Amino acid sequence: MPEYTPAQIEGMKQQAAYYAVEHFVESGMVVGLGTGSTAAYAVQEIARRLKQGRLRHIVGIPTSRRTARLALDLGIPLGDLNSRPVVDVVLDGADEVDPHRNLIKGMGGALLWEKIVAAAARRVVILVDEQKRVERLGTRVPLPVEVEPFGWRTHVVFLEDRGAQVRIRATEEGEPFVTDGGHYILDARFPQGIADPWHLAQVLNGRPGIVEHGLFLGMADVVVVGTLKGVEVMRDA
Ligand code: A5P
Repeated sequence: MPEYTPAQIEGMKQQAAYYAVEHFVESGMVVGLGTGSTAAYAVQEIARRLKQGRLRHIVGIPTSRRTARLALDLGIPLGDLNSRPVVDVVLDGADEVDPHRNLIKGMGGALLWEKIVAAAARRVVILVDEQKRVERLGTRVPLPVEVEPFGWRTHVVFLEDRGAQVRIRATEEGEPFVTDGGHYILDARFPQGIADPWHLAQVLNGRPGIVEHGLFLGMADVVVVGTLKGVEVMRDA
């Protein structure tokens, strides 16, 4: 993996976001607005096109309070999932993408709402720069696991028993980071990566108190990868 300059990384993110808006967002759509720096470029591009009149009648469904603030500042009309329960397309970032378009998400702390919006979407479009591509999930970032504060240490033991090194995510002040949904996040690092993500997802799904986890398996219809040589699109043939 080459070393990238910050400008190259931002350029790759911007390209992916621009491509996604250009190819997957149309007037009249309900659009899920993802969270993170790459998704923010897509939010900015949608706002620009609305101002120019190239897009009309968009309703944005933000995946976090942070994204809601950004979209409102930029003048994108927002709705919520209860008034618009079917999302035409969601544009979101990711922290890792494997060759099967399986993802790890959640380093930005918004994984629960992101997964709810993705599950409600007819099409899930993921935007990444090429640094996020991995052969095996869990080799670049830890797996974020969102838990109820009640009894959170029990999940640390549970994850450690499955081979993970676990840290509770903290704020700069050293307090537990609290998600938009009022939960904590445990970052679970698997030293060899995650050998069987589908099995791990099933195990985590079945555990009371684990609210959600960052394994987004079989959910991404399209992954738009910004590279130094241009955009690459991962999707079914
Ligand atoms: C937010 O919770 C994450 O799932 C983000 O999608 C992820 O962290 C990507 O963020 P960047 O685009 O800033 O890398």
